[in-house]
Parts: sequence; structure tokens; C-alpha cells
Amino acid sequence: MHERTSPSNTIGIDAIAVATPRAYLDLVDLAAARGVPSDKYTKGLGAIRMAIADRDEDPVTLATDAAARMFARGRIDTARIGYAAVGTETAIDHSKPVASYVHGLLGLPQSCRVFDAKHACFGGTAALMGALEWIASGAARGRTALVVCTDIARYELGSPGEPTQGAGAVAMLVSERPRLLELEVGRTGTFARDVHDFWRPLDRRDALVDGHFSVSCYLDAVAGAFGEWRDEDARRGGDPLVRTAYHVPYVKMAKKADRHRAMVSEGLDEAAAEARFAREVAPSLAFAAEVGNVYTGSLYMALAALLHAEAGVLEGSRVGLFSYGSGCGAEFFAGRVAAGAGAFARSLALDEPLRDRVRLGFDAYEAIRRADGDAPPRVSADASADVASDRSTFLGIDTAERRVYLRASPASTRLAVAAA
Ligand code: HMG
Repeated sequence: MHERTSPSNTIGIDAIAVATPRAYLDLVDLAAARGVPSDKYTKGLGAIRMAIADRDEDPVTLATDAAARMFARGRIDTARIGYAAVGTETAIDHSKPVASYVHGLLGLPQSCRVFDAKHACFGGTAALMGALEWIASGAARGRTALVVCTDIARYELGSPGEPTQGAGAVAMLVSERPRLLELEVGRTGTFARDVHDFWRPLDRRDALVDGHFSVSCYLDAVAGAFGEWRDEDARRGGDPLVRTAYHVPYVKMAKKADRHRAMVSEGLDEAAAEARFAREVAPSLAFAAEVGNVYTGSLYMALAALLHAEAGVLEGSRVGLFSYGSGCGAEFFAGRVAAGAGAFARSLALDEPLRDRVRLGFDAYEAIRRADGDAPPRVSADASADVASDRSTFLGIDTAERRVYLRASPASTRLAVAAA
């Protein structure tokens, strides 16, 4: 490992991986049960399926699985990680960070800055920006940063938000000389405003949302953050963006966002906006249509889908990214797809977790959701279990109210216990 104390210019996302729960609900089944035309969900919102987390899956297991997959597929030297941050708005403890569980379950170095970042769906971007600036400042001294976004999106059963639920995690390794996407540090556009568009008081599992207002807040934030980014870009000079990945609470929202940017901020007409969306945004939306809203990870799920579909043809090209978090805060930034990213993205098999999932019947879905509020099972701190897959598992809570997890060791399906 070489020592670096001077600022670096080539920093970005070196590797990426996603994780989703093993089950999903088809939106056609939800529409039938709720007495809604299925087109409202599939065409009106653009959603096909939404991932449903069962009781043994939580933001810790999803984050751990995404990071473990990235380490294995990306051949990552975990001894070099000196920063491990988790973006989440659905953490499982008011104090102990999800990042500490992930750090422990993955056996990361003790010399490591470990923390959670929270600002609704913007928390992952806050963690990512911190990582980029940590490396750019020279403070990393040649080390790399792990950033994981992990969430379970829940709205009240039968509410308008219900078809926009989802669950999943995205892990990213941030480093110098990244193999996927070189990000432009210090060239971002930001926007913030104190609004109640979406919130979740501490005693609630389901989010509260002023749905149509939240859409207009998101659009205002696109105009604000993109406007600042564009002015700075014009001042410094840069080639055009050829793709943009957006925060995707539901697929149609990304279309609304790009249309708003095209027509309000850039003066394009309707036909040009439509064509641009199809060319520059649609390729990033395949995973979101399958998984639903993953809150902090939604933008990075879109980036993963884009790299999966097009990293090869985009090598050397500039892409935009828009992150939005209710409350609200937003950031528009850009990066350049690295040479060799196409072959590397193929080797990451980014869509693998979306295959081989189980389709839940509507009754099974409702049973899982209704059990959300139940107390977790009681287990002993040295509990262990055999599992059929390499997924991490939340076992329950021990007599001292500590959460107990299992993570598959690479060598066997007999798992090591990590108690809080
Ligand atoms: P709604 O009010 O039930 O739906 O809920 P609607 O009546 O607005 O219909 C939705 C779309 O379907 C409309 O299209 C309809 O025309 C269409 P649009 O006008 O928007 O283009 N439609 C149909 N299309 C075809 N065939 C049909 C049909 N019927 C209707 N038969 C709402 C929609 C988004 C409000 C709701 O799902 C909700 O509240 N979702 C949660 C909030 C949300 O996702 N907000 C997005 C912005 S805020 C954000 O992104 C932050 C967030 O991720 C949280 C965080 O930051 O932590 C949420």
C-alpha cells in the first residue's frame, strides 16, 4: 500500500454490487387485491415487482450481503479499507450504527472510520461525498472506502405509497484510479429546503408521506441542484452528459425528473424530452422496476443497472447522477465511465441477485407486513444455524436485547455468530 497525503484527481467508484431480499410481490397481484387497474401500477408508476424483506432480513443483512458480494466479485483487498459508512433511513437501533454490524460481520480492519449517515434517501450520497472528499484531501493515505446504502421501504397497507415499497442494498468501493466511474469531486450542485414531504417519526415503521407534494419537492430539487451544477460546469467546461441516473422512488418519477430538467431547465420541447429520456435515462431503470424503492440505494441501483446494461459502450463518456432525499436535500454530480469498465462490470454479474427470487402470493405478502410490528424471536447469543444459501440472517434478539446475526462463511454453510 502506498502512502498518499496530497490531493488526488482520479477518484470514484471502483466496484459496486447489489443485494435484494429473496422474495418479491408482483404489482399485478397487488393491484388485483387492492381493486386497482394493474396499468396504474405498471404503466402509471412503471413498477413491475417490489422486493419484500422477510423477518430474517433487515438493513444489516442486506448491506452485508451486498458488500460481501462486491468483495468477492470485485476481488477487493478488504485490508485496505479505512472508511466504512452506511447510508440508511431504516436503521434498527437509535444508537448503534448499521455500519458497526457490517464492519463486524465482514471482519473489516479496526483502523477504520465507521458510521451511519442519515438524510432520508440522501444519506448514501452524504456517505459517498464524505468518502470522495476523504480520499481527495489526502487523509485516506492510500486507503479505500466502503459505502453501503441499505433500506426497507414500507408504507401503510392499502395507502397510495404501498405500490412504491421495496428493499435492497447497494455497496460501493470508493478509491483512487477506480475501475468503473471517475467522479468529479467538488463540481456538484446542491439544493435543500425544510419541507414535510415524507417523514417517519421514531416510533413508526411505516413512512408518512404527502405523496403529490413529495413529487413537486423532488422536481424543485432537480431544478435547483441541476441549475447550480450546470452553471459550475459552464464555468469550468466539460463535455455533455450522455446518460443520467436519478433517484428512483418509482420508475415514472425518473421520467418526470428528466422531463422537468429538459423542459424547464434546458428549454427542450416535449418530443426532444421524450427522446432524451428513452436514450439517456431508460437504460438505468431495469433494476428499479424489479425491486421498487430502496431509498438511499435507489440512485446507486440505477447506476448499477446502467453499468450492467451499457458500461462497455459508455467507456470514456460522462454521466450525470441526481440524488434526492425527502425533508429535503439533493445533489447533482457527474463522472466519467472508466476505460475497461465494460469487461469489469460484466465480471461483477450485477443482476445476479435479481434472478432466482421467489414470487410471494398476496396473502403471504400481507402476513409478512402484518408481522412487521411483532417482537423479534428470542435467541441465545451463541445461536447458530445451518442455512441453504450464502445470505446473511437476522436470528433474533438475545436476553440482553442485542441483535444476533449469522453470515455465511465462504468455506461452509455453517455460520459464524456475530452478536452485538
Ligand atoms: P396516487 O395518488 O395513488 O397515484 O399515488 P396517481 O393518481 O397520481 O397516479 C399515478 C400515475 O398513474 C399518474 O400518472 C396517473 O395518471 C397514472 P402521472 O400523472 O403521474 O404521470 N394512472 C394510470 N396510468 C395507466 N392506467 C391507469 C392509471 N391510473 C392512474 N389505469 C404517489 C402516486 C406517487 C403519490 C404515491 O405512490 C406515493 O405517495 N408514493 C410515495 C411517495 C413517493 O414516492 N414520492 C416520490 C418523490 S419523494 C422521494 O423520491 C423521496 C422518497 O424516496 C423518500 C426519501 O427520500 O426517503 C420517497
